[in-house]
Amino acid sequence: MLGCGGYLPDRIVTNAELAKQVETSDEWIIERTGIRERRVAAEGEKTSDLAIAASERALAKAGIGADALDMIIVATSTPDNTFPATATRVQAELGALKAWAFDQQAVCSGFVYALATADAYLRSGMAETALVIGAETFSRILDWEDRGTCVLFGDGAGAVVLRAEDGAGATSDRGILATDLNTDGRYADLLYVDGGPSSTQTVGKLRMHGREVFRHAIVNLAETAEKVIERAGVDASDVDWIVPHQANIRIIAGTAKKLGVPMDRVVVTVDRHGNTSAASIPLALVDAVESGRIKPGELLLMEAMGGGMTWGAALVRW
Ligand code: ACO
Repeated sequence: MLGCGGYLPDRIVTNAELAKQVETSDEWIIERTGIRERRVAAEGEKTSDLAIAASERALAKAGIGADALDMIIVATSTPDNTFPATATRVQAELGALKAWAFDQQAVCSGFVYALATADAYLRSGMAETALVIGAETFSRILDWEDRGTCVLFGDGAGAVVLRAEDGAGATSDRGILATDLNTDGRYADLLYVDGGPSSTQTVGKLRMHGREVFRHAIVNLAETAEKVIERAGVDASDVDWIVPHQANIRIIAGTAKKLGVPMDRVVVTVDRHGNTSAASIPLALVDAVESGRIKPGELLLMEAMGGGMTWGAALVRW
């Protein structure tokens, strides 16, 4: 990985502000989720705008120009339009005209899915340099009258630049060491949006059975994490940082506990960002890299679960 960058909209919405709109409280939200505030995109600020801002920062950190990119993936469930893919606007605005670009949709697992997809392209030799972005404006698909969901989510984008490099096949190699992806469509109705072009011809609103999602998350996340650890031939004690999807502090802490990783080795941004779906892992990565906590050569475990149900993990040496 050559570099990462993030972007958060300016507007901060606190729990206290939400408590004026729905029957909830700062205490309830903090106790049940760990969220204190989240960002909300400005009127007219689109998912592609967030993605472009994050990508420009990632490219600057990577020290390469957009013309070096072979491919761009935008992981998102909140695209600008039904089509074309949000990635096409990102490609044009960045001036990455050599790159093919497409969106990938796996909701909160989107970034892990996109990372695994880019990794497969790089390993196959089809691409040498890839830009992987998680970008969301979930504020646009929330039912702002449903206290069970509107307090949980936020907007933002994070991006990473990947370049293929020959390794020794050892665990000390840099980059993506192992990935694991899973889907179980039988649970699609636990977390979904009740609209779409082919069903209602509307955008729809997010609907969720929070308690059930929570139950699945704890089991699935630990399992997928264990799989990548085993696949890479390392031990859970070798993991320097868990960079988890930021849905709920209790899910994050429960998974870390199952893996035996102490919380001071877990990157937490859910308090400030809320759940930004596909953007949450790259935003957490950026937070920890830019604050100097994650250092080159350290072993990172990324794990996520989301609507679908989809879940997965990636083990990355930074
Ligand atoms: N403020 C106050 N009370 C609330 C709120 C709120 N914002 N939301 C729900 N409640 C109430 C409920 O109505 C319920 O009241 P009742 O007992 O009178 O019916 C009570 O709180 C308990 O509700 P539960 O849903 O059982 O609360 P729980 O402790 O499970 O917390 C939460 C709810 C935070 C949604 C939790 O289930 C959760 O985080 N689930 C995971 C969902 C998630 O993170 N989804 C994101 C996408 S998937 C992923 O990223 C992993």
